[in-house]
Amino acid sequence: MELKDKVAIVTGAGRGIGQGIAEVLAREGAKVVVADRNLEDANKATEKIKSTGGRALAFTADVASKTSVQAMVGETVKQFGGVDALVNNAGIEGPPTLAKDLSEEQWDRVLGVNLKGVFLCCQAVIPAMIARGKGKIVNIGSTAAIRMTFFGSVDYTVSKHGVAGLTQHLAWELADHKITVNTICPGGVLTPLMEQGSTAEFRATVTKRLVPLGRFCSIDEIGEAVSFFASDRADMITGQLVAVDGGLLTGFGEDLRAIVRQRMEAAKTHGNS
Ligand SMILES: NC(=O)c1ccc[n+]([C@@H]2O[C@H](COP(=O)([O-])OP(=O)(O)OC[C@H]3O[C@@H](n4cnc5c(N)ncnc54)[C@H](O)[C@@H]3O)[C@@H](O)[C@H]2O)c1
Repeated sequence: MELKDKVAIVTGAGRGIGQGIAEVLAREGAKVVVADRNLEDANKATEKIKSTGGRALAFTADVASKTSVQAMVGETVKQFGGVDALVNNAGIEGPPTLAKDLSEEQWDRVLGVNLKGVFLCCQAVIPAMIARGKGKIVNIGSTAAIRMTFFGSVDYTVSKHGVAGLTQHLAWELADHKITVNTICPGGVLTPLMEQGSTAEFRATVTKRLVPLGRFCSIDEIGEAVSFFASDRADMITGQLVAVDGGLLTGFGEDLRAIVRQRMEAAKTHGNS
């Protein structure tokens, strides 16, 4: 139980990756605030944690609203006495659109949640973490935070690259207070967001082409990585982007492995040319 009695806020924890993270943190002993703009989902996720003996509290929050975020942090401090960890997971995608057709509304909405939302949540927890003498901020980026991906549109890539910049800047700024800031960058994870945005055939093709480990990540695997970065074991790590992507960022999946093997066999026979 490496997070015993720590207080953690997880945004967007009503379903998908956020729910997986909240469950792993609760299993590790944390008191978890399950924050989501959808209260029904937050309640369901909270009940599930409680049914396995975990401690959790559901809260409706819109990360794109400063008032809502301040209320979320205020209630956490009131109910649990402080904040040790913040996991900025809430994120959205618009429909895949070329830049020339992208609406100003989609740009503002996606950056409002994925980038401004992360900043507002960080800003809101800083005083509580300073009061604790240390703190852990773990953002959920994407492989699109490290390298452009074809999966989302330009607004999504820019929002996640913004999270990368925010991670490094805040890591530096908050180091004085022993607050670490890191970003986990998932590859493909099968969640409602992913299911809505792709077909099974598309996902299978992409995996074969791009993912050396040959499958999507599970929500628990993202939770395990977050749990480590939220724990005292990661005290000396800050400002980092860590991909949990089955090797996707190498760019070479099973399809390409066959070509490389063929080339090696040919070199054995004919020598290198
Ligand atoms: N699924 C993937 O393959 C994948 C890959 C890389 C990164 N990510 C990132 O992981 C995070 C979670 O994605 P997911 O696939 O679980 O998505 P999801 O849509 O399944 O779940 C997102 C949750 O966030 C909540 N949410 C959305 N906007 C919110 C807001 N303004 N305030 C509070 N809550 C809000 C939703 O209600 C929902 O419960 C996102 O940041 C996403 O960009 C996902």
